[in-house]
Amino acid sequence: MKRFAENKTFENVFQPTRQEMIEGFELKGRWKKEFFQNDNPIVLELGCGKGEYTVALAQKYPDKNFIGIDIKGARFWRGAKTAIETGLSNVAFVRTQIELIDYAFAEKEVSEIWITFPDPQIKFRRTKHRLTHPEFLRKYFKVLDDKGLVHLKTDSEFLHGYTHGIIQMEGHEVLLSTHNVYHPDNKELPEEITSVQTFYEQKFLKENKNITYIRFSLKH
Ligand SMILES: C[S@@+](CC[C@H](N)C(=O)[O-])C[C@H]1O[C@@H](n2cnc3c(N)ncnc32)[C@H](O)[C@@H]1O
Repeated sequence: MKRFAENKTFENVFQPTRQEMIEGFELKGRWKKEFFQNDNPIVLELGCGKGEYTVALAQKYPDKNFIGIDIKGARFWRGAKTAIETGLSNVAFVRTQIELIDYAFAEKEVSEIWITFPDPQIKFRRTKHRLTHPEFLRKYFKVLDDKGLVHLKTDSEFLHGYTHGIIQMEGHEVLLSTHNVYHPDNKELPEEITSVQTFYEQKFLKENKNITYIRFSLKH
């Protein structure tokens, strides 16, 4: 409750109702001009939880803007507070459903999407809830610029394999992929793939799970 109340006071937190989002979100198409007040690329973290990637990448790349999205505001309260306390002006959080992403952003307003440790939704009847299901990818494609860049980091071999299948079936392009980001042979991986460990990643590492990663480009 305390975090819920504090989120309302944070300038970097937006918590539109579903109806407000659908009727016309104030920042759609205006994020750079109105909120960030720069022309830098926008990077999203979907299902951001506490927002570890959002905050860490914002520190590393001051010339990009980062927005964490999650339905649970009490979780990203942590990231929002850290951003304020450390003076990061290139960070925002939106409490909304990922399904509404195309109401929050205009066409091509976004440059990259990170999906960090989503629920793999293994049961068949939950297929449409997987964050790399073609219906989600179509929404991501709408808001992404021409590079269509998506990163998926997950402990789930199931979701990793499912996503590879969807990428191939739908004609997208795999740019980088590994079953174990910490394997000693993976010395050449971009630093942010291993240097940031989210709350869930730390939990899965303690369970000795491999952490997988795919970087891909949406083509249509
Ligand atoms: C397993 S947690 C991972 C959190 C964080 N990325 C991490 O690695 O620690 C999944 C997160 O996705 C959020 N989430 C799941 N489905 C969502 C949806 N449809 N829209 C918005 N957030 C969602 C949950 O609230 C939760 O915080």
